[in-house]
Amino acid sequence: MSNNIPRDLVVILDFGSQYNQLIARRVRECQVYCELLSYTTSIKRLVSLNPKAIILSGGPASVYEKDAPTLDAKILEAGIPILGICYGMQLMAHLLGGEVTWTTRHEYGKTAISVDNPKLLFKGLNPNLICWMSHGDIVKRSPEGFEVLAHTTNSPVASMGNFKQNLFGVQFHPEVVHTPWGIEVLKNFLYSVAGCQGSWTMGSFLDQQIPLIKEKVKKERVLCALSGGVDSSVVAALVHKAVGKQLYCIFVNHGFLRKEEPERVQRTFSKHFKMNLIYVDASKRFLAKLKGVTNPEEKRRIIGNEFIKVFEGEARKLGKVKFLAQGTLYPDVIESKAAGAAARRIKTHHNVGGLPAKMELHLVEPLRNLFKDEVRALAEELGLPAEIIYRQPFPGPGLAIRIIGEVNKERLEILREADWVVIDEIKKAGLYREIWQTFAILPAIRSVGVMGDHRTYKYPIVLRCVTSEDGMTADWAKLSYDLLEKISNRMANEVPEVNRLVYDVSSKPPSTIEWE
Ligand code: XMP
Repeated sequence: MSNNIPRDLVVILDFGSQYNQLIARRVRECQVYCELLSYTTSIKRLVSLNPKAIILSGGPASVYEKDAPTLDAKILEAGIPILGICYGMQLMAHLLGGEVTWTTRHEYGKTAISVDNPKLLFKGLNPNLICWMSHGDIVKRSPEGFEVLAHTTNSPVASMGNFKQNLFGVQFHPEVVHTPWGIEVLKNFLYSVAGCQGSWTMGSFLDQQIPLIKEKVKKERVLCALSGGVDSSVVAALVHKAVGKQLYCIFVNHGFLRKEEPERVQRTFSKHFKMNLIYVDASKRFLAKLKGVTNPEEKRRIIGNEFIKVFEGEARKLGKVKFLAQGTLYPDVIESKAAGAAARRIKTHHNVGGLPAKMELHLVEPLRNLFKDEVRALAEELGLPAEIIYRQPFPGPGLAIRIIGEVNKERLEILREADWVVIDEIKKAGLYREIWQTFAILPAIRSVGVMGDHRTYKYPIVLRCVTSEDGMTADWAKLSYDLLEKISNRMANEVPEVNRLVYDVSSKPPSTIEWE
């Protein structure tokens, strides 16, 4: 386990379900610390971690498939409370001598479930509930020593439990929102079965991280590439709290930031937190590099390379620096460890990934174990302003990848103003926090319009507003006609060179969120 995280630890063994990160997030919501580990983790390592409980996740396989992911059955006898979810329960049943069969009467989606035993797992819940199912196989007969705790029309064993050995299973998914009472089942398991305390809070995390950072950094200097986004801001504030003036934040303005963003970042970190903030206005340099460039990937590459050069140049001026603080989050850690995670590259993301090796820096990554919502809670704990905590994600290459075709000063100004109008109206409508991202795109075409009896030939602005959980998939936001009308009117009145507004009604997939 990384970073000396305190007990209670719950281990979630990953059998490949698409909901695994969700299980981990729900457990953390119950204020219990958990980590997601591969199902191949050895029993020796599992026992050495001394977990309070283990959760076996769901997964796409059938226990009878050749090479189906499995478990050393000895772990089921190690005295550790275990909860199997979906495939996890089927595997538990299979390994302990129960009967798992394939059925033609699959259950997918909302399913009525009846509780047969309201003790422990279903304590405090109604006997008849609606849960979310997604499975082909069923547990037909539970293993010896287990009681059936719940059933559905098609699943004779929708939940089972061995009260003596603290082994439990549920066929449904308690982690998804469609099982609205699922969190109660998880709480019952974590608190009543496993005896977890629920003491994982961002306050406790902070108390524990500060000495760890101090101990690692000692008297050395730490660099941080500050972007103004919530992750790098939290890292900066956290490391600053630990080592104060030993931290040097470099904030590179590549010229593709939103209106007032450079001022806001300087105000917060330099004035309010009194950090060593090195502000570099490199906008002319970036713009010159992008002259004549229209290919999206080339734009991204140029911006990424140039960013590293500027950052390196500034860092060199500081002399000897040993550490680089980075805002790597737990989902990045899980995904980079997962087998076959090297998905085909759709877009070259701009980040500071190349820096540590090139500059021989050691990493300080205090957020490695946190999910995004925990980072936000930590930001509150650290006293960061709400406008940073709840800022919507903004891509590293900024407005440059929202200008289709060549990026130049004039087109940047048009987009910056249009972006301002969009954000302002979405905020006024009270939608800013619930919408994942909301922004304007400037295409490379013009169209004819009429303003005050005169023909115009100007740019359209594309409005993109999407809802999403994590940016991996997204849906277009169903904004009201009134709001669309307001944005459209303001765009025509306040943004010169724009005479038309169109709304992007594409989901991801097949589209992506950004246009480039
Ligand atoms: P796409 O366009 O791939 O975007 O659907 C998914 C999410 O990633 C953000 N994005 C980036 N973030 N550097 C970043 O830090 C980048 O280069 C970058 N490109 C896209 C995008 O805004 C969305 O939230």
